[in-house]
Amino acid sequence: MYRDNPLRKISWADFQKLDLMEKGPFFMRGEAPYHALIAQQFDRGLLDRVCELSNRIRSIAKTRGGANFLRDLLCEKRAMLYFAQPSSRTFLSFLSACQTVGIQTASVRDKSTSSEVKGESPDDTVRTFSSYVDMIIMRHPVGGFCERIAWLLCNTSRSVPVINAGSGPDQHPTQALLDIYTLQRSFEDAGGIEGKKIAFVGDLARGRTVRSLAWLLTYYPGVKQYFIGPESLQIGEDVTQQLDKAGMDYEVAYDFEKVIPEVDAIYMTRIQDEWDVENESQAIDTSGFHFREEHLKILKKDAVLMHPLPRRAEMDVAVDADPRAKYWRQVRNGMWVRAALILMIFQRDSEIDRYYEDLTG
Ligand code: NCD
Repeated sequence: MYRDNPLRKISWADFQKLDLMEKGPFFMRGEAPYHALIAQQFDRGLLDRVCELSNRIRSIAKTRGGANFLRDLLCEKRAMLYFAQPSSRTFLSFLSACQTVGIQTASVRDKSTSSEVKGESPDDTVRTFSSYVDMIIMRHPVGGFCERIAWLLCNTSRSVPVINAGSGPDQHPTQALLDIYTLQRSFEDAGGIEGKKIAFVGDLARGRTVRSLAWLLTYYPGVKQYFIGPESLQIGEDVTQQLDKAGMDYEVAYDFEKVIPEVDAIYMTRIQDEWDVENESQAIDTSGFHFREEHLKILKKDAVLMHPLPRRAEMDVAVDADPRAKYWRQVRNGMWVRAALILMIFQRDSEIDRYYEDLTG
């Protein structure tokens, strides 16, 4: 139980009035995350720590002794995977991360199997889950709902940490963490993420991964971000205003082929038509925002190609074999990053450092 939880000291009405930067500290326990809900609660020190821990867990997990050590770390804990929106990758990634660190899991993946169909409120549904577990990992179609749950639980006698595994079209912070980890590993011998030119392509208006990652990139000096997509799917002003405030260099562009040879990383996204009101995406010509095999010729030789997946036509399957394509690495990286985050939330990460130091002597 985290008694000094700051979410106990604010009403839900007042909390909702805060901007993202102001909300961040409410999700922390000292320097470490308690909940993991928005990109804005992380700072550069935390990002470096997540990457360091992920590397350590990755190498410890390679041996039988190491895997057993990891599995013992949180063996007294249970987690609920509540995924009220489609997911295979993120669900399995969190499940694997929980298994790596020994947490037992339960899952609800379909609202039609919960008492919500009997008229129970979503608040009560999640409160019920919290009675059985020590952590809730949730994906939900309603933006901000996981913040609501975090606030609600912190103000009950059974407060448990909440991780946002994708909320509406607004945030996907753990995807952004794994994207940072992938970028950091990819640019390890090229001076790090600092100073790199990074292009986001596709549905930037409704892609929650972009919204979270664009913020995390503000912690890397000299980064320039490019936002490239059809006019009606361009990046929102709320994001560009944050970048302006942070003094970041960015460009909103429409000519994808012109940008390809200039950048160090390209982050492709699919059209998020599940948010359409009247099939409006069908009328948008997105063909100019596809990465095709012939584009490999104009891409820098050490650039990286990323995609949160799932993909459609925007990322040509023929590109997969090129060493610059990192999206399948992203998938695997997510498992280590999520294991690292869970250990930080339960304040068990220093045990990783001790084991790692003994290992590397
Ligand atoms: C993304 C998501 O759910 O926002 N998928 C994922 O978690 N890797 C991207 C998407 O669905 O397009």
